[in-house]
Amino acid sequence: MLVQGKPHRTIWLKDGDPKTVQIIDQRALPHDFVIEDLKTLDDAIRAISDMYVRGAPLIGATAAWGLYLALGEIESQGVSSPLAHLHGAATRLKAARPTAVNLAWACDRMTARLEGKASGQAGGLLAAARAEAEEIADEDVEICRKIGINGLGLIEAIAADKNGAPVNILTHCNAGWLATVDWGTATSPMYHAHEKNIPIHVWVDETRPRNQGASLTAWELGEHGIAHTIIVDNAGGHLMQRGDVDMVIVGTDRTARNGDVANKIGTYLKALAAHDNNIPFYVALPSPTIDWDITDGCRDIPIEERSGHEVTHIFGKSVDGSTGDVLLTPVSSAAANPAFDVTPARLVTGLITERGICEASEKALLGLFPEKA
Ligand code: MRU
Repeated sequence: MLVQGKPHRTIWLKDGDPKTVQIIDQRALPHDFVIEDLKTLDDAIRAISDMYVRGAPLIGATAAWGLYLALGEIESQGVSSPLAHLHGAATRLKAARPTAVNLAWACDRMTARLEGKASGQAGGLLAAARAEAEEIADEDVEICRKIGINGLGLIEAIAADKNGAPVNILTHCNAGWLATVDWGTATSPMYHAHEKNIPIHVWVDETRPRNQGASLTAWELGEHGIAHTIIVDNAGGHLMQRGDVDMVIVGTDRTARNGDVANKIGTYLKALAAHDNNIPFYVALPSPTIDWDITDGCRDIPIEERSGHEVTHIFGKSVDGSTGDVLLTPVSSAAANPAFDVTPARLVTGLITERGICEASEKALLGLFPEKA
């Protein structure tokens, strides 16, 4: 999508330097637009674990490029078994963050394809890894575009009853293009509606503790010219009661076979409030985010516990223009930081996928993805 009027993706191979992958360092947004070079497997792992990149689909694409970078290190590290090196790199990448299933999905897809394609020769493996990582990124763009086209119908239907008034959509965290390679998941229907001149307005949950809503969603919607208002995480229920929210669209980091949805902490509370106020609550997801091996998401999806520092401190820009962390809490207070929660399928109105929209249930998901039966 657009940054300062120019189209961008979130990850790409550096022009004229195939040994370097480039990303947007999302930790610096919205204050600075910083492009970061990734040259090694360690760089890719750090980018995922320290959240230079985040969001399930982008984490998957970064892992794919991380394996490409790992194969590029074979000569300098004197590796004797390229395939063993590849598997070791995949194991390390998978441990970088636990909740987003796209991470393991991308690593498994890369290793499976590379084992089959190249007979262990370092050069052949590297070329095949580049092709596969490019394919994973391009596929993500296409999947997200289709999610947008499918979700657009939902916005159009609400707009038809609003006499030209904007459709008010609430979203949580950042499931925008910054969380994918392009388009985003939850935001893709919004960008498509904007392209069709359907008036929309987005309520952006700030999303403590890392403030992905306030820093990232608000920034990307603003760069693209979409009307939005940032709210504190606790405001959503009140706005819903007042009739100021027409629909909720969020993303997901892992959706179980039964339709239970893991997403950024606080999503569950929004689903409860939406349910109580009869407001449709949709989850937009690319199929690689479905974990077909988990039959009960509330019970079995592993939830990432992040550092308490993210709760006790907040990142921002001070009046003198410098950026940094500020302490919010008593120095001696303990802080807990579960980064995700699971919304049970019964609170989800529908899942917006690249193949269409379905109810959040195993039966309905298998209707769209019969090959997983
Ligand atoms: O911790 P993050 O920023 O990686 O969490 C991201 C979210 O929870 C998003 O809403 C979700 O990944 C959907 S990504 C399209």
